[in-house]
Amino acid sequence: MEKEYVRCQIEEGIAIVTIDNPASLNALNTPTLNQLDQIFDKLAGSPEVKGVIITGGGEKSFVAGADISEFLQVKGNTAAAFMARGQRIFDKIETFDRPVIAAINGFTLGGGNELAMSCDIRIAAENATFGQPEVNLGVIPGYGGTQRLPRLIGPGKAKEIIFADERINAQEALRIGLVERVVPKGQAVEESKKLLKKIMSKGPVAIKMAKKAINEGREMSLRGSLDLEGYCQGVCFGSEDKDEGAKAFLEKRPAKFKGK
Ligand code: COA
Repeated sequence: MEKEYVRCQIEEGIAIVTIDNPASLNALNTPTLNQLDQIFDKLAGSPEVKGVIITGGGEKSFVAGADISEFLQVKGNTAAAFMARGQRIFDKIETFDRPVIAAINGFTLGGGNELAMSCDIRIAAENATFGQPEVNLGVIPGYGGTQRLPRLIGPGKAKEIIFADERINAQEALRIGLVERVVPKGQAVEESKKLLKKIMSKGPVAIKMAKKAINEGREMSLRGSLDLEGYCQGVCFGSEDKDEGAKAFLEKRPAKFKGK
């Protein structure tokens, strides 16, 4: 049987997905990526799961990058397919129809930073370190880093990090908008759970549509993205959740959303 590199535990509607290979600082080897892919497929078909947290096993690392020991087998003519696999899995996480939080507990390098950037929100422990060190190996970020990093923090800062392998700490990551919160060491998962529970108390259709409008609208013209916002709002106004939300407000009671 294949070793388990990714664990998934479901508690109170929250799936905690742990990349768990601390001996290599949770580097993303082929079985890890495949297991992550399969877990997200299962979560997509599990309506009891209302949100996901991704974290790293052990105390030292979120994910220290793609597994460098696999690089020698990848050549120019196979690189695009090798990268497409990682890109596809991270796209699956980015477009997952419920919120996904990265609970960042240490080294977040290369593919680790790319994984974190495919999540909706990043909560970092104060000991976390971020970077895209690929140029040290003679390659570039290939699981979306050249595209998601400049979209998140701007092209100049992204180039500084990617060209010079500038490593940044959690406070600097917060300052430049690479993470949304910094918390004490060991608290990233707990803080992520607290935030996710707050999000889960809101209308699920609204959260799903807000995610779609923000993610898909980013790639469009302002006019096109406003049309998309209108479409998403139409879905919300057509939902039972909207009637329940408005009634609950008028009746001065908490809403009981069904996600329909
Ligand atoms: N791929 C494969 N193995 C990795 C890895 C990666 N991305 N990152 C760490 N490891 C392995 C190390 O080879 C080492 O294995 P060993 O104990 O069998 O020798 C183990 O994880 C622990 O790492 P080590 O380097 O001893 O820890 P450290 O605390 O001294 O340094 C890092 C930590 C993260 C700074 C260092 O491991 C590193 O630079 N890793 C590579 C980061 C990187 O370039 N990522 C992008 C890849 S595209």
